[in-house]
Amino acid sequence: MAKLNIVKEGDPILRKKSRRIDVIDERIKQLADDMLETLHDANGAGLAAVQVGKLRRMVIVEVEDKKPYILINPEIIKREGRQNEAEGCLSIPGKWGITDRPMTVTVRATGLDGKEFTVTGTGLAARAFCHELDHLDGILYTDNVIRMLDPDEVEE
Ligand code: NI
Repeated sequence: MAKLNIVKEGDPILRKKSRRIDVIDERIKQLADDMLETLHDANGAGLAAVQVGKLRRMVIVEVEDKKPYILINPEIIKREGRQNEAEGCLSIPGKWGITDRPMTVTVRATGLDGKEFTVTGTGLAARAFCHELDHLDGILYTDNVIRMLDPDEVEE
């Protein structure tokens, strides 16, 4: 495994659309490994491949000490409810904003084993799924933020 450099806001790659993954080969598995190490090192809840400079449709979401979800070609197939909570991004360090997201989302994706699965997340997990999937289409949370938080409003 290797820790990768996280691309920061302002880099034009973050605005590009990521390409579908048709073959899960050793390079994709290596990328997943490296993304996981990078995510752990950064203490984040999620990471998209584009954030380490690879325009492929793969994200990792890991919240609440559960095992990480590695999602290839993910799609949201169901949204329910609504939440306005704080959100940050490893590509926009030190900033947080209140976003408008569904309370619960169900995502369909392919795993590293090539099998399709669905996963449902609520609260933080739902925010993380929406946030990471947006990255695959070049969207940052700051595009649709309700308001950015002042530094003294942020508790970590
Ligand atoms: Ni992000």
